[in-house]
Amino acid sequence: MSQRYFEGVKLASTYQRVRPSPPQSLIDSIINYIKQKHVGPLRDAVDVGCGSGQVSRVVAPYFTSVVGMDVSPAMVEVASNLENPSNVTFVVVGSEEEYPVAAESCSLVVSCMAAHWFDMPRYFVQAHRVLRPGGVIAHVGYLVPELHWPGKSHLLQEIMVDIHLNEMGQYFGRSNRDDIDGSYTAAKYDMPYEEHHREDGMHEASLELPVSAMGDYITTMSGFSGYRHHLGEQKATLLKQQYMDRIMKVLDVSSSPEETMLTIKFRYFLSMGRKPLTDNSGQ
Ligand SMILES: C[S@@+](CC[C@H](N)C(=O)[O-])C[C@H]1O[C@@H](n2cnc3c(N)ncnc32)[C@H](O)[C@@H]1O
Repeated sequence: MSQRYFEGVKLASTYQRVRPSPPQSLIDSIINYIKQKHVGPLRDAVDVGCGSGQVSRVVAPYFTSVVGMDVSPAMVEVASNLENPSNVTFVVVGSEEEYPVAAESCSLVVSCMAAHWFDMPRYFVQAHRVLRPGGVIAHVGYLVPELHWPGKSHLLQEIMVDIHLNEMGQYFGRSNRDDIDGSYTAAKYDMPYEEHHREDGMHEASLELPVSAMGDYITTMSGFSGYRHHLGEQKATLLKQQYMDRIMKVLDVSSSPEETMLTIKFRYFLSMGRKPLTDNSGQ
């Protein structure tokens, strides 16, 4: 049922245009953590809930191959049609059904802004199956983005938070904002391995986007899809318009929303767990 939010190719293309890729510092943290114990060169990686492939592409240089997997055919279509490194492929999968990769073939199972959609116990079984001994599960995500404009960032942030929490908050459904806002610290995200590590507030990415694209950004959130589903297309279109109008009013500039560029900061969190070198995890 989760894929319905990410169904259309148009939405998947918008997603690719307005969502960030994780910063290099975060990728370095993942690679360094794997290498602390990994025996031999890094092998394959899977990116579960790959969307349009943001993570699959940036981890590609470190692995023999990367398989980006997603329940949404539209996301997989958009990801596949982009310029991708030759060792990256994308496949449609069923929710937590057997991942189409061999047992103990992967050095990394990564997901970004996707674990809140998973059936975690079933996902951990799959992740454990495909990981090599010493391989790593990494959950990546980012908090409500921050809009920046000299002297007005706090006012812009009030609008962002109001839209996220008050306007769309109740429509996020299973994709529970609390889980993301809590940086996946809820017990269900606990790594099934003794050895684990978190990094909070250490990594951030920035995008320069016009205000009009910030309107598009909120349409990529499942809360917006829920809002549209419950209140109708007209109200959803109005919400997007009001959001852009509120931003433009605060900025008080004469340029159009298409020409007015904002800096958007994404603060990432990272949680990792390592499969033991000898399998005594009981799974
Ligand atoms: C918010 S997007 C994140 C996309 C991308 N990883 C990124 O970093 O932006 C969540 C993605 O997870 C996918 N998804 C949801 N449930 C899934 C599941 N059970 N297995 C695999 N993918 C899933 C959705 O179709 C969507 O593309």
